[in-house]
Order: sequence, then structure tokens, then C-alpha cells
Amino acid sequence: MAEIKCIGIITAGYDAPGMNTAIRAVTRSAISNGYKVKAVYRGYKGLIDGDIHEFKTQNVSNIIQQGGTILKSSQSEDFFTPEGRKRAFENLQNEEIDALVVIGGDGTIQGARIFAQEFDFPCIAIPATIDNNLFGTDTTIGYDTALNTVMQCVDKIRDTATSHSRMFFVEVMGDDAGFLALNGALSAGCEEAIIPGINLNEEEFLQSIKQGIKKKKSSSIVLVAANDTHGGAMHYAELVKNDDPSLDVRISILGHLQRGGHPSAHDRIIASRMGSASIHALKKGLRNVMVGIANDEIVYVPFSKVIRENRQINRNLLEILHNIS
Ligand code: F6P
Repeated sequence: MAEIKCIGIITAGYDAPGMNTAIRAVTRSAISNGYKVKAVYRGYKGLIDGDIHEFKTQNVSNIIQQGGTILKSSQSEDFFTPEGRKRAFENLQNEEIDALVVIGGDGTIQGARIFAQEFDFPCIAIPATIDNNLFGTDTTIGYDTALNTVMQCVDKIRDTATSHSRMFFVEVMGDDAGFLALNGALSAGCEEAIIPGINLNEEEFLQSIKQGIKKKKSSSIVLVAANDTHGGAMHYAELVKNDDPSLDVRISILGHLQRGGHPSAHDRIIASRMGSASIHALKKGLRNVMVGIANDEIVYVPFSKVIRENRQINRNLLEILHNIS
């Protein structure tokens, strides 16, 4: 196995709060372990274009608390072509980069997996996505911050919903996983969470809404995952309104504000741990694994096992939500 002297670092795919904390941890752990660090800007696009610059300790000063990614990010279709990956590999060789730490979500890790196999190039991934949809880790960087954002927004909506005795359908992100919708609903005391992959019986749903109104609830808030195949918050608002036009129904789509903001303490801590674990992994000779956290311990999950479809939500939580709403 060739000796590693210089480590490249890259953020790709959608940004997530805590990516900067991870960049800081990777850079500083690498430097204190005697490695040179080079930062790739603009995700896999920047890797193909050769947008690569050396990083010193001071390049990552004062970023631990910043949302987004100072390296910028992108979605790159070219990286999913053999020609694009070949150019990326040539740039790494020209820059004398011997290993890559990639920070991102499912698509980013799938890209790293293909690249690592194709060129026998050492890659370590750090999971960062607000969707929390990666198998092999209890949590991903950015999820806790986004969840807190959802909870705080719903708390605010609750104030106005209660004042006007209204019903709200709040649409949240989360891709095809329902973690933000389900745990957002639990943490903000919502009446229902509508989640991809869990069929909602619309008749029963309408019944339970009516029961809630009978209980003289002063407001009702339903969280809807944006990727719900029925058409999101709008669809359910219309369903309820058609069933009972006397109900005062509103929709709120939280959108991209869920991806921004200062990372929470939890995200900063896991990003720091995972960042430093990525360097330990390379030092120990590990290759092509994602760093994860399971039961509060660092784990290394082979890329082949990091498939998002495998990450299931805990259905018991849905039951608890129904019982206590
Ligand atoms: O994967 C992160 C995520 O925020 C998803 O939750 C959401 O479905 C998607 O990105 C939104 O993408 P865009 O920024 O292209 O609208």
C-alpha cells in the first residue's frame, strides 16, 4: 500500500450544518498527524476542474460555528461518467494527493465508492446530510441542527395556530426518509406525521383529525415530508378542506431554511469526532469506509453497506406520536 503524505478534503452534494466543523477537524487532525492537506473547492465539479488549494491550520480558523460549507458544493453529473472521473484522478495525481476525505450524503458516498474502486484510490467518507438517511450510522452531521430548526419553526406556527384555532400542514425536507417529519412532529407535539413509505389511510386520517377537533383542540399541526408521493402539504390540506369546508386550514413550507444556520452542539461534536476519526482510519490503513457513530462509538462502515434505503425509521415512534397527540 502506497504511503499517504497528502490528504485531499472535499464537500459534495447538498450542504448541511456542521460540514465546516468537519472540515476543520479533518484539516487539523491531518496536520497534527504530519500530513499535508489540500482542499478541493465546489465538490466533484471542482475536482474535475482542478480547483484545489493547500490548506493550513489557519484556513479553518473561526469556521466551527458557520453553517454551509466554506469549500462550496455542487451536484456533478460529470463525476458519474468515466471521462469525468478520469480527469478527477489526473488532477489528484498532479496535486500529489494520495487519499481523499469526502464529506456529504448518499450521492457523494456512492460517487466516492465508484471512484475508489475504479482507480484503487483511498477514500474515507464522513456522512453529512440533514436527511439522516444513511445506513450504518446512528446520525449524520446536520440532522440534529435541521431537526431543531423544524421544531422551533413549528413552535412558532403553534403560537399563531392556537390564537386562531387553525389547522396547519407544515411541509419539511428529508428526501425519501421521514426522519425530519417524524421526529420534528414528536418534538413539537404535532398531531400527525406523514412519511414516505408509510401508507396513510386517508379515511382514518380524516377521522382522527375530526376526533382531535371533538377533543376541543385549539390547534392541529401535521408535518408532511416533502417527498410524500401524494403531493405534499397541499394535497392533505385540500383533502381536509374538501371533507369539512368549515375548517380553517393553512399551509407552511419550511424549505431551505432547514439546511442553514449555525450547527448545534451535537452536530459540532459528532463532526469533530468523525473528522478526526477519518484521519485515524487512513493512518490505520483503512480504505473505502464511511465513518459512523453507533451507540456513541466510532464505527467504520464499508461503502458497499452504505445504502440509504436500508435506513428505516422506527415505527414505534409513530405509534407514540399517535398515542400522545
Ligand atoms: O438532501 C438534502 C435535501 O435538503 C433534501 O431534504 C431535499 O429533498 C433536497 O435536498 C432539496 O434539494 P434542492 O436544494 O435541490 O431543492
